[in-house]
Amino acid sequence: MVTRHRWLKEIPNKSSKSLYVPETIEALLSEGRSFPPPESFSIQANVSDGSIYEEAERDYVSFWEKWAERLDWHTKWDQALQWDPPYAKWFVGGKLNACFNCVDRHTDGDLSEKVAIISEGEPGDVRTFTYSEVKLEVARLANALKLLGVKKGDIVCIYMPMVAELAFAMLACTRIGAAHTVVFGGFSADALRERIADASAVCVITADGGWRRGKVVELKKTVDDAIAGATTVRNVLTLRRIGDSTAFNAGTWVVGRDHWWHELVTKESSDCPCEVMDSEDLLFTLYTSGSTGKPKGIVHTTGGYLTGTSATFHCIFDHKPSDIYWCTADCGWITGHSYVVYGPMANGATVLMYEGSPDTPDKDRFWKIVEKHKVTILYTAPTAIRTFMKWGEQFPGNCDLSSLRLLGTVGEPINPEAWVWYWKHIGNEKCPIVDTWWQTETGQILISPLPGLTRCKPGSATHPFPGIKAELFSEDGHLLEGAKGGYLVLTRPWPAMLRGLYNDHDRYVETYWSRFPGVYFTGDGAKRDDDGFLWLLGRVDDVMNVAGHRISTMEVESALVDHPAVAEAAVIGRSHEVKGQAISAFVLLRSGFEGDHLVGEIREHVASVIGPIARPDDLFVCADLPKTRSGKIMRRLLRDIAEGRALGDTTTLADSAVVAGLRQQYEHLES
Ligand code: WTA
Repeated sequence: MVTRHRWLKEIPNKSSKSLYVPETIEALLSEGRSFPPPESFSIQANVSDGSIYEEAERDYVSFWEKWAERLDWHTKWDQALQWDPPYAKWFVGGKLNACFNCVDRHTDGDLSEKVAIISEGEPGDVRTFTYSEVKLEVARLANALKLLGVKKGDIVCIYMPMVAELAFAMLACTRIGAAHTVVFGGFSADALRERIADASAVCVITADGGWRRGKVVELKKTVDDAIAGATTVRNVLTLRRIGDSTAFNAGTWVVGRDHWWHELVTKESSDCPCEVMDSEDLLFTLYTSGSTGKPKGIVHTTGGYLTGTSATFHCIFDHKPSDIYWCTADCGWITGHSYVVYGPMANGATVLMYEGSPDTPDKDRFWKIVEKHKVTILYTAPTAIRTFMKWGEQFPGNCDLSSLRLLGTVGEPINPEAWVWYWKHIGNEKCPIVDTWWQTETGQILISPLPGLTRCKPGSATHPFPGIKAELFSEDGHLLEGAKGGYLVLTRPWPAMLRGLYNDHDRYVETYWSRFPGVYFTGDGAKRDDDGFLWLLGRVDDVMNVAGHRISTMEVESALVDHPAVAEAAVIGRSHEVKGQAISAFVLLRSGFEGDHLVGEIREHVASVIGPIARPDDLFVCADLPKTRSGKIMRRLLRDIAEGRALGDTTTLADSAVVAGLRQQYEHLES
C-alpha cells in the first residue's frame, strides 16, 4: 500500500504498485525554493564541515568506530564489523553497559548535578531529576527488580505513561542486563497479552494509570486482563501515578504477584553495579506492525545501537550542553527509545518528557511547555504539525518560543505546506528543520539533513547520513541512478540495525531480505530529484501510517472478523489531511446481522482488540467486495473509491458491478 496524501499525485510506473510524487513539491521546486542553513546556526554547528561525508565514504567501518569511541567501554572490541547478511554484528568482543553510558559516566564526570529529565504530567505537575538523582532512582529500581527474581537475559515488559519513571524502568532493566519490551500505553489488553507472550516476559512494570485528556487511562487494570490465565509473568510492579486522590482502583491485587513501586523500590539500596554486557547482547525488543496480522518483535543489541543513536543525536540535533531537548514521542515507540532515552542520555542531554495530549487544558499546551522550560530543540511528527496548523497560529503566536533553535520531524512524509508552517510559526524563520527518515528496524536516523550544512527543500529528508548507503531499486531489482523513483533499499550495514526478529529468523528473511535477495528492503518508495535529494513517498506494502503510527491492514482486518457479526473485511488507508492516512474498513456482515448500531459496535471492537489508534475512521457495510477471479480482494480499487478517484485498471475484476455498486453506496454515505 502506498501512503497517499492529498498533495500527492500519481506518476506512471510499470509496476502494479504505483509510486507517488508530491504535487506541491514540484511547484516548490519550480519556484526553486530551498532553505540554506541559517549562517548563525552553521558557525556553531557540531558538524560544519562537509568532508564528514567523504570521510565516512572512504571507510564507513572506521567512521562508526570513531563514534563508538565516544562511549565508555569496559573492554574494547576486537572486530568492528562482522557482516554475515542478513545479520550484522558490531564491535564484536566489546563489553559495555548502556545504563552506565547514559547515567553513571555522567555522574562520575561533571554532569552529576545537571538536570537529566524534566517530567511534566498532564495535570501540570513538574518534576526534575539530575543525573545523580536518576542514578539513585534507577539503581534502587534495579535492585527491586533483582529482588523480584529478574535476571540478566530476562525480558521485562513496560506498560507505563510518559513520566520519568518510564525512562527509569528502561534504564533499570538495562543496568542489570535484562532486556525490555515497552508496550505503548494506548494498546489494549489483547495486544499487550500477545506481546508479553511472544517475548515470554517475566515481569511487568506499570502504573495504576496515566493522564490523557483529563481522564485516567487505567493501565494496571489492563495489565490484569492481559496476564489473566496462563502467563509467563511472575511479578507486576505498579507505580502510583494517579494515587489516592481519586477513588481509583488499581485493578485486582494478587498477593505475591503485585507490588507497589513506592513500597518496594524506596526500601532498596542505591548500590547496584552495572552488569557488564557484550556489545551484541540483547538491549530490547520492540513490537511493530508488519504486513501480516502478527506484530514483529524487532531485536536491538547494545554496542551498535548505542553508537548509532548517540552519534546521530549529536550530529543531527546538534546537541550542546546547554540545550533543553524535547521529543514528543512516547517511549512506546522507537523514537522514544532512540531519541528520548538512549541517544540523548548517552550524550548527557537534558530531556523533557510530557505525559499528556497537546490540547489539554488548551490547544497551546505544547507552546506553553516550550515557553515554560525554554525548550531549545523540538522533535515532533508531521501529523501533530498539521493539527497545529488546523488549530491556528494564534496558539503558538501567544507564547514565547524564542528559546527554540532547532526543529525536527519524523514518522511520515511532511508535506511542504506543513514544513513551511513549522519553519515560520514555530521556528520564527531562524531554526533549521531536520526531516528525519528511519524505522523501528533501523534503530537510528538514516536519512536527514545535517542542520549546519544541508540546504533543505521542504518535504525532502534530503540525504543519507554519512556512512549510510540508501539506494533506489527498480521493480526488478536494478539499481536506479539519477533522478528516478523506486524502492528504497539499504545496501550496507549500520550500527543500530535490527539483529532480526525475536525468535523468527524465517520471517526476518522473508520480510526484509527476499524482495531483493541479499539487500535490506525498507518497505518504502522514494524518489531522487535532479539535485540528488531524496523524497520519501510512504509504504509500498500493506502497512498504513496513521498519525505516524504503523498499523497493518491485516491486523485491523483480523480484529474485524473477530467480531461475531463480520463475515469478511477489507481495510485500506485513505489519505487524510491531518493524520496522513485514515483507516477505512469495508465489511460484509454474516447473514442474520443487520442494523446501524453495528457500525459503532464493530469500530469499538477493533479499538478494544488492538487499541484506540486502530479504530477505523469509517466503517462501511457493503453487499460485496471487489475481488479478482482468483478471489483476492482488490484493495487498490477500494482506495480509489474511498479517495473519490477514477478507478484504476479493473480488467482483473471478477464482477465489475461490485465496484460500481460500492461507489454509489460510498458517495451516498459521504453526502
Ligand atoms: C515512515 C519511526 C517519510 C516510513 C521512526 C518508515 C517517514 C516508517 C519518515 C517507519 C520521514 C518515518 N519521511 N516517511 N521523515 N520517518 N517514516 O517504524 O514509511 O514507526 O518506513 O519508525 O515511517 O515507522 P516506525
